[in-house]
Amino acid sequence: MSGVCRSQLGIDVGGTSIKGAVVDLSTGEPVGGIYSELTPAAATPDDVAAAISRIASAARWSSRVGVALPGVIDGPSLRHAPNLSAEWATENALEGLSVLAGTETVFINDADAAGLAELTYGDTGIDSNGLTIVLTFGTGIGSALLHNGELIANSELGGLIGSEGRFEEIASGRNISVEKLTPNDWARRAQPFFDEIEAILNPSRWVVGGGLSEDFDRFASQLKLSNPISVAHLGIHAGIVGAAVAARERHLTALESVS
Ligand code: BGC
Repeated sequence: MSGVCRSQLGIDVGGTSIKGAVVDLSTGEPVGGIYSELTPAAATPDDVAAAISRIASAARWSSRVGVALPGVIDGPSLRHAPNLSAEWATENALEGLSVLAGTETVFINDADAAGLAELTYGDTGIDSNGLTIVLTFGTGIGSALLHNGELIANSELGGLIGSEGRFEEIASGRNISVEKLTPNDWARRAQPFFDEIEAILNPSRWVVGGGLSEDFDRFASQLKLSNPISVAHLGIHAGIVGAAVAARERHLTALESVS
């Protein structure tokens, strides 16, 4: 069975856009272009299913799809997705989405997808004997914990609360663009977030992804940290690539379980 799954469609559902690409799994590079649509306000499962189908058909893809979502993947349910419609709180929403999209669908949290992509293709020197924390700054703040070379899924560090409120509500990529925060303004809000995580989890390195990866040098240089910080190797496409890897891994697991 050599040559199984050399490429895979990955789709990243963000608060601003839904993007997908066929990813070459040997390199982690999107091939054949990025298909992108604006996310409808308060996107419902029906909206997202329709976008998945459109992207799959534009990419001429008809098999398994990996989908990264901004919320906690809890079996067939999606919890804590403040940037999507309340309809996602319905029990088994993910099962329904799979059916609506009309194709087998593997789900992963969006920041976990970025972390998985970093683990698989990153050259950021992830310390396989320690804890690397990947933080994505976009519409919200996502987090992925990479411990001893393994992903610990579904952390929600953006939900930590500081003296000015939940950090993902005051220091996200959306805050930077909507409130026109300077790097200094942002660092004043984000520094206590990094300090809190450092005190509790003691990471040996940090990786920053999401929209902030495009302006990493100006913003990250304002932070005072005990350990190194670097930009996500795959930048803003990390979610797409990680969604594709998640679909491949599920495929490998399925093959193993029947052998
Ligand atoms: C969600 C997380 C997600 C993050 C980034 C947060 O609002 O709770 O699951 O990873 O946004 O999209």
